[in-house]
Formats: sequence, structure tokens, C-alpha cells
Amino acid sequence: MRPSQQRTDLGGCPVAHTDYRLDRPAFETYELLNAERELGPAVWNDSTEHGFLMVSRYDDVTALLREHDTLVNDCVNAFDPTMTTPLLPNSLNPPEHNKLRRVLNPFFSPAAVKRLQPLARQRARELVASIAARPDKSVDLGVDFAMIYPTELFLALLGLPVEDGEMFLPHVEAIFGGFFASTPEEIEASGKAVEAIMAYFAEAVEERQKNPGDPETDLVSRLLSVTIDDQPLEREQVLTICMTLMVAGLDTTRSALGYLFHHLATHPEDRKRVVADPGLWPKFIEEAIRLYSLIIQDGRMVAEDREVLGCPMNKGDMVWLGLAQANRDPRKFADPDTFDMDRENLNHHLGFGAGVHRCIGMHLARAELVIALEAWHEVIPDYRLTEGVELTERGGQLRLQSLPLEWD
Ligand code: HEM
Repeated sequence: MRPSQQRTDLGGCPVAHTDYRLDRPAFETYELLNAERELGPAVWNDSTEHGFLMVSRYDDVTALLREHDTLVNDCVNAFDPTMTTPLLPNSLNPPEHNKLRRVLNPFFSPAAVKRLQPLARQRARELVASIAARPDKSVDLGVDFAMIYPTELFLALLGLPVEDGEMFLPHVEAIFGGFFASTPEEIEASGKAVEAIMAYFAEAVEERQKNPGDPETDLVSRLLSVTIDDQPLEREQVLTICMTLMVAGLDTTRSALGYLFHHLATHPEDRKRVVADPGLWPKFIEEAIRLYSLIIQDGRMVAEDREVLGCPMNKGDMVWLGLAQANRDPRKFADPDTFDMDRENLNHHLGFGAGVHRCIGMHLARAELVIALEAWHEVIPDYRLTEGVELTERGGQLRLQSLPLEWD
């Protein structure tokens, strides 16, 4: 592959320079993405060392997500084609990908998610009760609720002790700090956190090797007992799967809670409607996942020289499949920047991706979100953003960095 930032052979494809790795004032990223979607069906972005091709209209994104023979998952980060850290199952391409998904899918089915619900409800209620008891009647929701809750449920999903959540949290923060890092310190801290978490998972794997649990309900035990093409998974693969599930599942759920609560705090009419009719939470969540897409890009690597929407691409170039832009494409969604949980194509959004790599954890994420929102609003139905705070959002993969709320 050759660095292609200074491309002169783009066949007239427009060029943009916005660096989407940067933190910005909250909600500014969506405005920039919307504007660049309208420059053309494909736009070359030269803000990174290698550059990448942005595809951002709904029909194009959904079609290209299905072209997994020529747009492959060898790298899934459009910002950096050299970042080939293996993620399982994400980094695999069909047919290997399907084989591993078949092993993992039962743990993320609606029935498996149902098994976790009593624990989720109990922990959500306990956390909300402790927050409601605060004498200052305020909380940074992004930190004190949205971080700990999904971490504990993730441990339960893997069959690991939820009490380990406290120990896990600083490492999880450091790992995410390293993804879109701007300083060598952040990168170093992230590397150390990965080592610590891998050591934690390694211990859990050893424990399961000595005392296997029920492979129907214990994910680590299942990974140790399963064969793919008559071969057991290697220990390294089992560890990588655990790490991937952590990376893919924790930050997303935390970030989603931040945007959902921000919307509810700033749109009392929507909040009152769902509080009065809690059966509407699933619709509320679906529309919020569309409007506040966290994963702004699904990166795909070009497997062989080809044209993408009229732009000549070389093997090894990166394509940015713009989930957030597609989710706000007026060609697909009427009045796309407005929250409307009654819209007729509510479920067509790409917030969980599409095609073979569609989010394996989406049923779990939805259930976790409904339970958290119900538990909170049963106890604190009225609240607002703390006055005078300026909210920022992280670049790379969106997240409100903090969300201070207060109530009477
Ligand atoms: C609101 C929360 C979540 C959002 C918005 C989200 C979004 C996404 C998206 C857009 C993809 C597709 C990536 C691609 O096409 O390359 C994806 C894949 C994935 N997600 Fe999620 N996700 C969420 C929660 C979770 C949870 C809770 C888990 C598991 C604990 C999880 C595990 C995964 C995995 C393993 C993949 C890769 C699937 C594959 O390559 O086959 N996600 N997610």
C-alpha cells in the first residue's frame, strides 16, 4: 500500500479536510457530517496520513456494507489503515466470520438477553437509588451511572463476578483513551491497560479450564469447548474475543446512555410522553440510536483496485461507510435532524450497522437501555442539564464527555 493522502488520481471526486478525530462542542460533528454528505456521493478526506474515501448517503452505505468480498474487514478504522489489531469476530471476513458468529450468536440472542434482565434491573435500581439519595441532587450521568452499569452487565454476560467492575473501570477508560489518542502518554497508558485486562481474562480462562461451567450459559466455558472446522479455538483467540466484546460493548452503551439522557433532559415533552407510557421506551431508543449515531464510520479496506461510486481506489485504501450520515440522510428519513419516534421507517436506521457484521450485541444493548431508563424515571422523572455547562463530544467515536444533571 502507498500513502495516498496527496492523491491526484481521484477522477474528480471532491476533497474535504475535516479531522473527525478531534473533540468538538457537542453535536457539531453531526453538522459537519451532514454538510459533507451533500458535497457528493463520495468525498476524499485528506485529514489523516493516508486519507480515506467517505461514502455517506443511505442507499450507498447499505449497498457497500454488503460488498464484503471487495471491501474487507482486515482493518475497520478509516483513520488508520495500519491499525490491524485483531478484533474477533470483527476482523474476520466470510466464510471464517460466519463460523465464529455461529458460536457467539446464542449468547446474544433475545432468549440469552432475557436471562440477564433480572440482574440488569436489580443493578440499575440499586445505582439509581444511590444517586437519588445524594443530598446535592445532582450527578454526572456519563461517569457515575453510564459507565459502571454496562461494565457490570458485561462481566455477568461472560460469567465473571460483577464485583470486579470497580477494578475494571480505570482500565476500560485508559483503553478507550488510546483509540483516538493524541499524546504518547495516552497510547502508553492504553497499552498497559490492555495488558492488565488481558491478564484478568487469562486468569478467568485458566479458572474455567480447571472448573468448566455450563457451556450453554457460560461464554468462556463455551469458547473453550467449541471446535471450528474440527479445531479448538486457541487460547489467544479466546482472550481476543473477550477483549473485543469489552471494547465493542462497553463504550457504546455508555455513550448511548449519555445522548439518550441529554435528549430527555432537554426535551421535556418527549420525556413526559415516555414517562406516562413506558411501553414507548423501545421506540424512543430506536429513534435516538438513529439520530445520535455514535459510530460515525464503519471502516472497510479495499481488497483490490476498484472504483467506488466513480472514484478510483487502490488496494489497501480505506473507505468510510458513514453510518451517522446515512442515518440523517434526507433521501431516506423525512426531516432527518428532528427526533420523531412515530416515523414510519423507525427501524431502518444503521445505528447497529447492516450486513454480516451487524452488531451482535444489539438485543443486549436495547434491553440494557430500556431497563436503565425505566429504573431512572421511576425514581427521578424530572431533571435538567446543570446550568452553564459547556458540553463537548469526543471525536473518533462519539461520546458526550460528561453530562451533569440536577433535579429538585
Ligand atoms: C448502543 C450500543 C451499541 C451500538 C450503537 C453498537 C453499534 C455497532 C455497530 C454499528 C456495529 C457494526 C460494525 C461494523 O459493521 O464493522 C457493531 C458491531 C459489533 N458490536 Fe455493537 N453496538 C452496541 C452495543 C454492543 C454490545 C453491548 C456488544 C456486546 C457486548 C456489542 C458487540 C459488538 C460486536 C462483537 C460487533 C462486531 C460484530 C461482527 O463483526 O460480526 N455491541 N456494533
